[in-house]
Amino acid sequence: MLSDFSISGKQILVVGATSGLGRAFALHAAGHESTIYITGRNREVLDDLRREFPRQVCLNDRCDIRSKDERSSYISAIEKPLNGIVFFSGITEYAPLKFQSEESITDVIDTNFTSNILFLKELSKQKKIAPSASVVFLSSVSAQRGGSPGISIYAATKGAIESVVKVLSLEFAKSRVRINAIAPGLVMTPMMTQQTTLSPEQIKEQEKKYPLGYGKTDDISNLIHFLISDASGWITGTTITIDGGYSNS
Ligand SMILES: NC(=O)c1ccc[n+]([C@@H]2O[C@H](COP(=O)([O-])OP(=O)(O)OC[C@H]3O[C@@H](n4cnc5c(N)ncnc54)[C@H](OP(=O)(O)O)[C@@H]3O)[C@@H](O)[C@H]2O)c1
Repeated sequence: MLSDFSISGKQILVVGATSGLGRAFALHAAGHESTIYITGRNREVLDDLRREFPRQVCLNDRCDIRSKDERSSYISAIEKPLNGIVFFSGITEYAPLKFQSEESITDVIDTNFTSNILFLKELSKQKKIAPSASVVFLSSVSAQRGGSPGISIYAATKGAIESVVKVLSLEFAKSRVRINAIAPGLVMTPMMTQQTTLSPEQIKEQEKKYPLGYGKTDDISNLIHFLISDASGWITGTTITIDGGYSNS
């Protein structure tokens, strides 16, 4: 019998749903009849998403994931145990180490790694994770490949994500909760277009390293859809690279 590739009817939390890949996945999940819980710091986008999908979006409170109190109160408002949890929340600083301040290093580590892990811990503590749920973290090809100067701390946080899913998958296995990460190559989102130090010409030139060209937000949504569906029920503790062939080029 074919496994169930559907995410219809699942309760899915999207952390970092206000931009780029997270917003695209929130729209994808709502379009596939999931019930979604969304968060981020941008109140306006959270409201727009709820207006667009009033039936699907059941919680759209603002939460800065670096705040213990905001994490705790957001999680308290989740009414049903979650079947899918995706952590998109992340930032980057494009600067060689010598130009990075202690504050910016700490902020990247806190946002990309520590706060996401503490969010998961609090979800578990408040018993908001359903048995057989699927948790997906966002790594990046930079964790394994580096790729370009200036993203050392960002890449390190993604390496930490890849390590942590290996061990957490063992800890959560007794309730059959699966913990995985995906490592995308470059997809043009605000993180890439607004924060990069590369010129448009350099961005175009870099695309030559991608045998299948840069990715699209749909490419990422489709993989996460699979990881949340029951069809991926035997996948846990791993990182799946999705990069149009970049890592082998
Ligand atoms: N795009 C790519 O090519 C690519 C490649 C590999 C990996 N990734 C990873 O994919 C994830 C999403 O990236 P993106 O390209 O979609 O970036 P993006 O457009 O900049 O979106 C980042 C998201 O993180 C949220 N966020 C940041 N700091 C937060 C905080 N303190 N509290 C709550 N939410 C916070 C932002 O929401 P607010 O601003 O509303 O807080 C936003 O929704 C990141 O983890 C990134 O590292 C992206």
